[in-house]
Formats: sequence, structure tokens, C-alpha cells
Amino acid sequence: MRSLCLFVLLSAAILSDGFLLKADRPQVNLDPNNIVIVDHIHLAVTGIKGEMIVMFATSINVSSAQVEYWTASNTSARLLSDVATLTQYNTNDSYTSPFIQSVTLKGLQAGTQYFYRCGDPSLVWSADFNFTTESSSFEDPFTFVAFGDHGTSINSTKVLNSMLREKSISNFKLILHAGDLSYANGNGTQWDIYHSIVMPLSTSTPWQVAVGNHEKEKKLNFIAYLTRYNWPYLQSGAQKKQLFYSFDYENAHFIALDSEQKAYYPNGTDLQYTWLQNDLMNVNRTVTPWVFAYFHTPLYCTNIDHSGEGVPLVAAYEDLFYKYGLDVAFTGHVHAYERTVGVYKGRPDPNGPVYITNGAGGTQEGLAQNWGPTQSWSAYHQSDNWGIGVVQVHNATHLYYQFKEAEQNQVMDSVWIVRKRGEAVASTVSDIDRPTTRPTESRYSAGITLVISLSVLLSVALLL
Ligand SMILES: [Fe+2]
Ligand SMILES: [Fe+2]
Repeated sequence: MRSLCLFVLLSAAILSDGFLLKADRPQVNLDPNNIVIVDHIHLAVTGIKGEMIVMFATSINVSSAQVEYWTASNTSARLLSDVATLTQYNTNDSYTSPFIQSVTLKGLQAGTQYFYRCGDPSLVWSADFNFTTESSSFEDPFTFVAFGDHGTSINSTKVLNSMLREKSISNFKLILHAGDLSYANGNGTQWDIYHSIVMPLSTSTPWQVAVGNHEKEKKLNFIAYLTRYNWPYLQSGAQKKQLFYSFDYENAHFIALDSEQKAYYPNGTDLQYTWLQNDLMNVNRTVTPWVFAYFHTPLYCTNIDHSGEGVPLVAAYEDLFYKYGLDVAFTGHVHAYERTVGVYKGRPDPNGPVYITNGAGGTQEGLAQNWGPTQSWSAYHQSDNWGIGVVQVHNATHLYYQFKEAEQNQVMDSVWIVRKRGEAVASTVSDIDRPTTRPTESRYSAGITLVISLSVLLSVALLL
């Protein structure tokens, strides 16, 4: 009951902030105790053009949870999805999740803006949202964002606002989340808060998640993460829902790996290793010349925090990455930012992947300020700012990467990465546009107001 109350309170609060549910859309009361709320809406791509996963939560077990969708050019031709698959989970501290619904839209036109709403046709709809599908051409330039270690703090909201500003500039197509999403740490209501906070972006931009150590939640053993997110595990060749998957998008192949279950990489012969080897062998570099991986724990990082934790990953996966020409690995876990040059076996190597760690996503645990000795493979690091990685894939051979701090979206680090014959080479055209002074503090009142309101509501709900 406590969780349902919080769910309703949170939704009501966000209603008042005006960006989740339309205030003029009637809520349907089945009876005084069952108010239907639709919330937690987020998207994911599957790697199949014309598909989009839409997930949302309902406060009661509606009989026909569906997504209605249409194009701007034909608003009267509205389509209804299949009825959603339903999941729900309980934890042993009396928390019960809302009813988590998942729909995969199919047959969508390429490069098309779709409007949609989630709910139950006979009861209630959410507000209208929209997303744009993958383009029909592999040659189109596209942009995506990579970051990790988000959380629900004021700084998390700054990072979210930073992404919204970036969205208005570059209209990036995907978000790669390198893990440590909500920092719920076993508190299910924290997951509900997280899903509500990110909705301004998760309703329009697919969140492609990788698992972090904070998703395990000890004895809960990833249950919230596994229930609240879907990803294309079947489409990427896994027989059941594993914590790793891959997908093609535009001219790139993306691989999400699980760096958190140590049993997965004792000797390079585990399930994920076998899957990854097969996945990399089957990449068609003519269709997807770029290959990106994203996962939580970095292989190469000079920060003191979590120092040495990437050593087993280096032993297990570095040779595979190198052999098959992985271009860039995006990671988090370390609450700071660092970019390497191409590296292999602890030395700069133009044929090795570039490793970019960005765990400066706003986590309430703060920034990791202590750095170890400088290494020859480390191109740039900083831990003064929260921020996001913006990746502009220009064509089959060139991408431009920028790390932007979250206060004003100033560029703190940038580099051209140039592919040659399946390998990635970090260009010497780097270190441009880097400001010499730290950006001044500024505030984003809407985000702060939201966090404060959520905190107050959480306190109220816990008293119920
Ligand atoms: Fe972590
Ligand atoms: Fe973290």
C-alpha cells in the first residue's frame, strides 16, 4: 500500500510540474481505491528497423494495457499495439512494484516521427509523446549520448537537464547508459522516483542500458533491473534474458556487456565470452563499420576509486576487443571522466580500442577526486564536473566525440576518432576547445524544484 501511495503521489507531483500527464486528461476512477495512473514511460530500440520497445507502469492491473500510435501526417489513422506483457515484483521489505507493461511496436516506417500514448483504451491514456525511428539509410550522420552513474540527486537532475539541452541542439538518437541507474540499493520506491525523473527524456529517446553493480541490490539479484527494462536479447542471439545484448543502429553495432557478475569472466570461456565472440565474428563491417561496446567497469582508468577492478576484464576480453577491432568502449563506475588513446596490453596502440569512462552522471555518491600516476595511454581526465559524452558519427570512418560538463554544456574534452580498415585510431586532432577555467555554477530551477518536491513526497509517503 505504501508503494502504491507513493506511486500515486509521485505521479500527482509530476502532473503538477506539467510534463508527464496532461492536466486536462481525465483520470478514471474504477472505485475510490483504484486510481489508474500511467507513469514510468521509457523506450528502447531492438536492432530491427521498424521496432520500438515501449515500457510503462500502471498503478492497477488494467485488463488491456496498450500503446496507441500514429504519424503526424495521418493523425486520424491511429494504430493500437498488441496488449502489453505484464510483470510485477515484490521485495521482502513489503515493497510491491507497480504493474510494469512492455510493448514492442512493429512495422514502423523508417525515419518517421511517431506520436504515441500509453494506457488502457477503456480506462485512461497518458499524455501524448513522440519519438523518431531509425533512418532508412545507413549513411546518415547521427548522434548519441553516453554516460553512467546517474542517480536521483540534484546533480543527477543537472545532468538530465544537460541532456535535454543537448537534445535541443543535436537531436541525438540514443542514450547509452553504462550502469548504476537509480542507486535504489534495495529501496523499490527509489526506482519509481528514478523512472519519473527521467521521463522528459526517456519518452522520446531510447535508453539502452547496461548493468552496473548498483543494479544487483544484493539478495534482490538484479530483479528490479531485469523487470523494469527490456532489451533485445532474443534478437541478439541469447536464448533467455541475459544481462548482455547487442543491436545495430544506423551504421554502428552496439554491444552491452555485463561487467558485474565476476563468474562471467574467470577464464574467457564463460557464457558471455562465447556469446561476445560469436557476436563480434558476425558483425558485417560493410553495413555497420563502427562497433561500440558499453558496460560498467572500465578496463583502463587512472582514478584511485575502483582501481584494479578492471584487471579481470582486461584478462578476459581485451584480446577479443582487439582482434575484432572494437572502436570505442564506453564505461562508468568511476565517478569521474577519463579518455584514453587507442590502447592494448597497457600501452598506446593505434589499433586498440579507445576507452572512455564517464561515471560523472550525477550520482549522490559524489565525484571521485583522487587520481593515480599518469599513464601513457591516458589522454585526458577530470573530476571537477558532472557531464555527458556526445558522439557524432559523421560517416563510416569519422566520429567526433565531446565530453560536455553539465552546468552549461561547455566542451571539456574532444577528439576525432578515425576508423581505418576495421580498427579505430584516435586522431592527434584532440584536446581542442578545452576551457582553461572551471565553468561557473548555475542553477536550473525546474529540475531542482522537481527533486525537492519528490523528496518531500517521499518523506510523506514513508509516514503512511
Ligand atoms: Fe558502479
Ligand atoms: Fe556508480
